[in-house]
Amino acid sequence: MGVSIGFVPTMGALHQGHISLLETAKKNCSLVVCSIFVNPTQFNDKADFDNYPVTIESDIDKLERAGCDVLFLPTVTEMYPQGETVNGKYNLGYLETVLEGKYRPGHFQGVCQVVHRLLNIIPANNLYLGQKDYQQCMVIKKMMQLTKINTNVIICPTLREDDGLAMSSRNMRLNETERKKSAAIFEALSFIKKNIVPGDINPLKKQVFLRLAENGFKPDYVEIASADNLSIIDEWDGKIKLVALIAAFNGKVRLIDNLLLQ
Ligand code: PAJ
Repeated sequence: MGVSIGFVPTMGALHQGHISLLETAKKNCSLVVCSIFVNPTQFNDKADFDNYPVTIESDIDKLERAGCDVLFLPTVTEMYPQGETVNGKYNLGYLETVLEGKYRPGHFQGVCQVVHRLLNIIPANNLYLGQKDYQQCMVIKKMMQLTKINTNVIICPTLREDDGLAMSSRNMRLNETERKKSAAIFEALSFIKKNIVPGDINPLKKQVFLRLAENGFKPDYVEIASADNLSIIDEWDGKIKLVALIAAFNGKVRLIDNLLLQ
């Protein structure tokens, strides 16, 4: 048997969620590659890009301890020798018009562009992605279909802090008060999971949205969608598999999370 390559793309500021992907990759593959690249073309908000945490020394330390074989740490000019323009060439269809696609125009084109380039450089057998970015997983799968890239996609569960907050590099930017408040997002998702019943589910979405807003968040959306294709569900038949998804600003930091409801 030859070498099997497992690849974990990241933007650095690594936390245990990233490391869990690496650990899964290590179990399945003989060589594990991680990339750290804060991809400028996927940031629709300049302030978010400028403030994205960079902790390269501690990242390298974590990767070494987790037994990562190769770290790919390219510069912007190495990744984008022709300049960093997003050319919007991936036909992502519906997926690009809803949820993150709607609130972060161009974001998924930038994600596809960079992952496509990374997969051209790294001949991965398996690509490891986190369920934390539910829509991103679907978008990357779609890009791979469109570009006929023959790499397996393995989706790994979301790692959470003790209070339920999904681990995220952006959590580093929360102040103490904001950090304490942030558990409300996972509580909101859990509330939906506990209280959803067949029929009109819009009142439940609205109730949760309002509660987050009352608690000082600025939600972009509180949605319930088909877990298979992300079509928005307003009337639930009690059968179709659902995922609840939330994006909300806590101060200046935009947090996203999701939960499968069955
Ligand atoms: P980044 O946000 O650094 O995340 C890298 C990978 O780690 C993604 O697949 C993400 O879903 C996963 N991840 C993040 N938080 C997680 C958690 N709490 N539990 C499990 N997995 C988690 O996502 C990106 O970078 C970029 O868009 C990228 C795919 C690298 C393209 O630039």
